[in-house]
Amino acid sequence: MTIILKEKILKKKFKIAIMGLGYVGLPLAISFAKKGFETTGYDINIKKINGLSQGISDIEDISNDVLRTCLEGGKLQLTTTPTALSSADAIIICVPTPLTESMEPDMSYIQVAVDTIKKNAKKGVLISLESTTYPGTTREIICTAMEEEGFTLGTDFFACYSPERVDPGNKIFQTENTPKVVGGVDHVSKELGETLYSQVIHEVIAVNSTEVAEMSKLLENTFRSINIAFINEMALLCEKLGIDIWETIEASSTKPFGFMKFTPGPGIGGHCIPLDPMYLSWKAKSKNFYSRFIELAHEINHLMPDKMSEHVVETLNQHKKSINGSSVLLVGMAYKENSNDLRESPGLQIFELLRKRGANVAFCDPKAPQFVDEQGGIQYSIPLDYSQFNDYDLVILLTKHDVFDIDKIGKNSQLILDTKDILKNSFEDKKRTYGKVGNQIKPISKEEVQI
Ligand SMILES: NC(=O)c1ccc[n+]([C@@H]2O[C@H](COP(=O)([O-])OP(=O)(O)OC[C@H]3O[C@@H](n4cnc5c(N)ncnc54)[C@H](O)[C@@H]3O)[C@@H](O)[C@H]2O)c1
Repeated sequence: MTIILKEKILKKKFKIAIMGLGYVGLPLAISFAKKGFETTGYDINIKKINGLSQGISDIEDISNDVLRTCLEGGKLQLTTTPTALSSADAIIICVPTPLTESMEPDMSYIQVAVDTIKKNAKKGVLISLESTTYPGTTREIICTAMEEEGFTLGTDFFACYSPERVDPGNKIFQTENTPKVVGGVDHVSKELGETLYSQVIHEVIAVNSTEVAEMSKLLENTFRSINIAFINEMALLCEKLGIDIWETIEASSTKPFGFMKFTPGPGIGGHCIPLDPMYLSWKAKSKNFYSRFIELAHEINHLMPDKMSEHVVETLNQHKKSINGSSVLLVGMAYKENSNDLRESPGLQIFELLRKRGANVAFCDPKAPQFVDEQGGIQYSIPLDYSQFNDYDLVILLTKHDVFDIDKIGKNSQLILDTKDILKNSFEDKKRTYGKVGNQIKPISKEEVQI
């Protein structure tokens, strides 16, 4: 059985279905289709499927041209019909794993996906879960549901977990050249998972259980969350001490071993770093284990937007302006550079916090041009017209997309608050100096920028 299935994979006769065509699922579907696998992209969002079927990609890393080539070549089919899964030899789950209001894992998307699979999958199917989740999910949720439906592990179905590491917007590391971990619930599942992913990913690291694979993803992202929290705390401390955190980080980064560079910012965003560690702490609590590192990192990182809004008040005050009634422009609302992803973006929180303090807040983000505010109203980006920047009492730099001309922002703004040291690089390149150094956030005025 294993040999037959492996042969089928190697001959590219294995039919692939991807459930969920978001930041993770769409690039993966494209990778399989490009390699010649018959691939079905299944999503419950009809609007998404309609858009993609017309060759319009909503994911930055996938160009319309690449999408159209896969569609026109017949290797990629898109559907909202679950019965389309019935011919798939492998079903890869890439659905969201958010948190509930009480900050607990919301497993409903995975549950629905598994319900759909068990009703539609054929015998012998390989199921691979890619959604980030707590250790034990593949075995506890997927295997249990399949077995309850009458599928027997090892003959009727195989299951593995392979965490997705995609870093949207990363120009160097994309789906194919990012090493991928895979673990199976048994030896055969592991072997099949390893063989399958090796067809599209340059380096596959097979581990001995799905739990190790699940845990490895949470370890990676918790590591990031904790280190970001640490550097955020150091930034707040340096500010109190009057020391330039950015220069300090550059100095420490010259150590060729034992130091890894992290940089502070206005808070953390996206569907991963703010959420994933909470999956781990939830699982830990179920075993009466309290991870103080995870909780502390969460607390510090989530404090940053508040700290930022306090800085805004202070900065305006220094310039004899009150936050109440002032006009503020947030530049770069997406949580990361060159991405359109607004999920958990600290910019959204800063927007609301400043509004609550009476500021008239606008934003400029050609990548993420609209969002729904806390009151349910739609907020639209102002056009990227630098001459308008001067109309604002304060411009806050949150995320540096490539489309932004920092020089022009500098020249056209009355006052800038830089949350990520965006100005420094730009002005240094042009042999410029700028205002006060020593703070994580540098209030500078146009007059202080000398050419
Ligand atoms: N975004 C990232 O950078 C990233 C990186 C690594 C891992 N992950 C993880 O990957 C998973 C997916 O994240 P994403 O960013 O791609 O999410 P996303 O919201 O961009 O995409 C998820 C897609 O799944 C669809 N969907 C929901 N329920 C479905 C169902 N039952 N059947 C079929 N489709 C369904 C949604 O309509 C949506 O299009 C999450 O667990 C996330 O933590 C994300």
